[in-house]
Amino acid sequence: MAPAASRTHHHRSLALVVLALVAAATATVAGAQLSSEDYYDASCPAALLTIRSAVAAAVLLDRRMGASLLRLHFHDCFVQGCDASVLLDDAGGFTGEKGAGPNAGSLRGFDVIDNAKMLLELLCPQTVSCADILAVAARDAVEQLGGPSWTVPLGRRDATTASASLANSDLPGPTSNLNGLLNAFSNKGLSTTDMVALSGAHTVGRAQCRNFRARIYNDTDIDATFAASLRASCPAQAGSSSDGALEPLDGTSPDAFDNDYFGNLLSQRGLLHSDQALFGGGATDGLVRAYASDAGRWGSDFAAAMVRMASIGPLTGTDGEIRVNCRRVN
Ligand SMILES: *[C@@H]1O[C@H](CO)[C@@H](O)[C@H](O)[C@H]1NC(C)=O
Repeated sequence: MAPAASRTHHHRSLALVVLALVAAATATVAGAQLSSEDYYDASCPAALLTIRSAVAAAVLLDRRMGASLLRLHFHDCFVQGCDASVLLDDAGGFTGEKGAGPNAGSLRGFDVIDNAKMLLELLCPQTVSCADILAVAARDAVEQLGGPSWTVPLGRRDATTASASLANSDLPGPTSNLNGLLNAFSNKGLSTTDMVALSGAHTVGRAQCRNFRARIYNDTDIDATFAASLRASCPAQAGSSSDGALEPLDGTSPDAFDNDYFGNLLSQRGLLHSDQALFGGGATDGLVRAYASDAGRWGSDFAAAMVRMASIGPLTGTDGEIRVNCRRVN
């Protein structure tokens, strides 16, 4: 090999090594945010089992609680990241997120998290964060309802702040259209596939009449028989006696974590306007069809998307704190 060619080769190799180092360092920064699921193995060996037991007991008593715990984690992660900000109570001069539009009168599961946290504080004081409890509880709830399971990266710490205004601005709502949904998820670094897969969480849970009233009286992309049956318990006139009337988000199999949600969309039986928005001639029709016909594909996409959602903006290292009581900062 001629010396010049050799030097060129050498420079190119060096450049590749530098590029590889930069890539590795970048990957470390991005991936260092959370640790593996064995994070508490030494500091609190019973942590995962304690959370699992609390979730199992709650879901056995009330299957809807499984959906509520999943939603609680979602509403945490989309507001300031997965930092348990959603769990902070309003107190004195402090305003939390519980009174924000997407949360007031509909967010549930706080007692389940409190129960797990109380036990964990007895077993290993100030060790397991409320944010990690939420992430593990969501996974366990899905599993308990017959859905897929996945490994939950851990090591989140708890926020000392909350934001009602971000809760109002960053969470998608029941009247969102497809663009609104895609924007809300892409603002959090989640893809179109993540958005559609995660929407499948509406295979469980209930919605209040106030959130689907306009759809069942005014939307045109709704099955007529389906709309008529819902009108019986959700009158057109808003009122305190009917506004909170509950209907299953998946009328086909309300409490089973399966892919019927997507089948419902194919026959215009999505309960919320934002559900049916996924299948109405837009860019996500193909995915909805795919998930409706392939439960396995949806399950693995859902699990992967949950890991990504649970990794939104966590506090790690010395940021934030490990709360003693999930409802207030230390
Ligand atoms: C349906 O649309 C009409 C016309 O915009 C409106 O007046 C009515 O309040 C809507 N009904 C419901 C239940 O939202």
